[in-house]
Amino acid sequence: MDTQAQLLVVLVAGAWPFFVGSLARGAAGAGLHPVVLLPGYACSQLDARLTDEFEPASTAPSCGGGALKGKKGWFRLWKNHKALQEDPALVPCYAELLRLVYDPVAGDYHNVPGVETRVVSFGTTRGFGSDDPATKNTCMEKLVQALEGVGYREGENLFGAPYDFRYAPAPPGEASREFSCFLSSLRLLIEQASQRNGNMSVILVTHSLGGLNANVFLNRSPLAWRRRYVKHFVMVSTGAGGGVFLLRFGGSPSPTDPLSFANTIRSFATAFSALPSPKVFGHAPLVITRAKNYSAYDIPEYLKANGFSDDEVARYVTRVLHVTLNFSAPAVPMTCINGIGVLTAEKLVYWDGDFGANPHVINGDGDGGINIESTLALDSLIGADPEQDDFKSLLIHNTSHVGTISDDLALERLVNEVLEANRAI
Ligand SMILES: *[C@@H]1O[C@H](CO)[C@@H](O)[C@H](O)[C@H]1NC(C)=O
Ligand SMILES: *[C@@H]1O[C@H](CO)[C@@H](O)[C@H](O)[C@H]1NC(C)=O
Ligand SMILES: *[C@@H]1O[C@H](CO)[C@@H](O)[C@H](O)[C@H]1NC(C)=O
Ligand SMILES: *[C@@H]1O[C@H](CO)[C@@H](O)[C@H](O)[C@H]1NC(C)=O
Repeated sequence: MDTQAQLLVVLVAGAWPFFVGSLARGAAGAGLHPVVLLPGYACSQLDARLTDEFEPASTAPSCGGGALKGKKGWFRLWKNHKALQEDPALVPCYAELLRLVYDPVAGDYHNVPGVETRVVSFGTTRGFGSDDPATKNTCMEKLVQALEGVGYREGENLFGAPYDFRYAPAPPGEASREFSCFLSSLRLLIEQASQRNGNMSVILVTHSLGGLNANVFLNRSPLAWRRRYVKHFVMVSTGAGGGVFLLRFGGSPSPTDPLSFANTIRSFATAFSALPSPKVFGHAPLVITRAKNYSAYDIPEYLKANGFSDDEVARYVTRVLHVTLNFSAPAVPMTCINGIGVLTAEKLVYWDGDFGANPHVINGDGDGGINIESTLALDSLIGADPEQDDFKSLLIHNTSHVGTISDDLALERLVNEVLEANRAI
């Protein structure tokens, strides 16, 4: 060995600890498959901007002047707990700005005229969550920390796909512009995440409504694309057929929550997205009255009895139900994680048929929202599908709908699934 080579060896040996140190700091997660997160309902923050076309409804006088006057640029519409705390008169106004309108000519939903909206920080997880201490850790905040704990880094191999939770997928042939835009953005995000990580395929991790959206996304992506870009799909707290508690439309609106205020939530395309699926709940009576029982098959009639218009009921049938019934195997390796062992509404009793009153709730098993029937149906609707060759369903006892992404033990198991997916060939 000549002296030059010896010098090189010494230099390299001397540099080694430094090199390892910088690896640990800089590219700690090098070698990990990139993760893309889709959060649950109401977890994506939305900004809004008003145009000259905007005319405040008479029901939202606070939108006329006051705090909104002079709001020229983008401002945080959802979730803006702080602004609503400081000025409760803004609640009816923000409820109005969040409302969706269905345009029968375009056959699609859009914002109230004069309101523009956008999700915050697409591509990152920074637009998840809220400034409301009461809902801290319900939107993957702790999952992000846990993934960072095993080497994931925001913008390097950890990405977020926030979406406007008011919009829903529609079946082929029906317009759903906002949702289609989201699918395109998600496709691009996954491709870029892969490219930034040496063309490694991506692990999708979703919570609740995010899982329904990801399922539609995967089923509408060509199989070759899925095989190339999706390493694993970890679907957390999403059943195969919704939950009974969502049949509860009555109750008094919260004066502090713009989503429930003046039934804003009823105007969303997602209002019916997770209603019980006939495929899962069959003919079992889910709502009981003296005169009549309603099963999942009777939902159109039930919606009518709850004051929804003929048009709204028709949209449930033509738009939502098709998507619900089409819930099927994504044909990529998949792990479902769900909580069980928590009291979950199984039947709602409105004995006198007054759906505005509080029902007597008969509880069964589930995660507090999603019924165990819906969770177990994942085995038959996805696991048993011959196209689905890698499927695992993890049931975590005593764990709620949100506990799956916030309880320490549940999080540990979730992160373990991500690491295991990384090790799979
Ligand atoms: C159901 O899913 C399949 C693909 O899995 C798709 O080809 C079909 O168009 C979907 N139908 C509806 C109504 O969404
Ligand atoms: C990733 O794939 C693209 C084409 O699909 C190729 O051009 C590129 O060189 C690949 N990058 C790496 C790091 O393998
Ligand atoms: C409704 O369902 C309940 C519980 O399953 C049953 O006892 C009752 O007979 C049913 N009532 C009607 C009107 O079908
Ligand atoms: C669930 O929690 C209850 C009460 O906290 C406890 O008695 C029970 O052992 C727990 N079950 C499991 C499976 O952890």
